Amino acid sequence: MSKTVLIIGASRGIGFEFATQYAANGWQVFASGRDEAALARLQALGCHTFMLDVTDPVAVSNFGKKLSAEKMDVAIVNAGVAGERTAAMQAPTQQEFDWVMRTNVWGPMQVIAQLPPLLNKGSKLAVLSSRMGSIGSRASNAWWLYRASKAALNSVLKDASIALSGTTTCVALHPGWVRTEMGGANADLSVQESVNNMRHTLLSVTPGQNGSYLNYDGEEIPW
Ligand SMILES: NC(=O)c1ccc[n+]([C@@H]2O[C@H](COP(=O)([O-])OP(=O)(O)OC[C@H]3O[C@@H](n4cnc5c(N)ncnc54)[C@H](OP(=O)(O)O)[C@@H]3O)[C@@H](O)[C@H]2O)c1
Repeated sequence: MSKTVLIIGASRGIGFEFATQYAANGWQVFASGRDEAALARLQALGCHTFMLDVTDPVAVSNFGKKLSAEKMDVAIVNAGVAGERTAAMQAPTQQEFDWVMRTNVWGPMQVIAQLPPLLNKGSKLAVLSSRMGSIGSRASNAWWLYRASKAALNSVLKDASIALSGTTTCVALHPGWVRTEMGGANADLSVQESVNNMRHTLLSVTPGQNGSYLNYDGEEIPW
């Protein structure tokens, strides 16, 4: 039987590449987008698709119900936004704060809460975090709102790893600095290389690594 993967936020960039590579490897891919054009692109890869904006509570609860008959070997919560590039001491507007935090923290909390019925013993759950969320390796304060959101997402992942311990191996993944709309043209890694590495990291991650914060190549990152 083919393996199954759920990708939340698969319309473009890293999420779309996950869908592309898993589909090319014969997996059944369940992938979300926010408009018909995105779903059509994913369907062309052979994905099962559904509409989901992670900031919409009704849509999140509907996706849980819609997929309730499915079991996922891997679930990837990828959707995220960077917001404005402001450094520490530049206060974000409340609107900016609400958008970034709601998308990067509240959204994953809503999605993760729907996942337990979709997971089996041995499943793996990854959130797309960022090294910029690391407090232990912090050397810059640029993008401080984004950093705060990914640090909070790391906390969410850690709590999920405790809740799901014994069934699902949960990891926060840093994809590297990747050439997508978010990463920009000068980033270090192609999206293909980043995603190929993360797929291998997810394949090799063991239950003993539940609750880890990992670079795309599997190396540990300090919280
Ligand atoms: N690129 C990098 O260098 C880098 C580095 C570290 C971490 N990351 C993380 O990796 C993840 C993917 O990044 P990327 O570079 O692929 O970014 P991207 O090219 O900007 O794509 C962002 C994805 O998130 C989706 N999304 C945004 N808001 C959403 C919402 N409210 N509901 C559902 N989906 C939503 C977008 O969907 P739409 O097309 O509908 O907008 C799109 O699929 C993000 O979590 C990001 O923080 C990226």
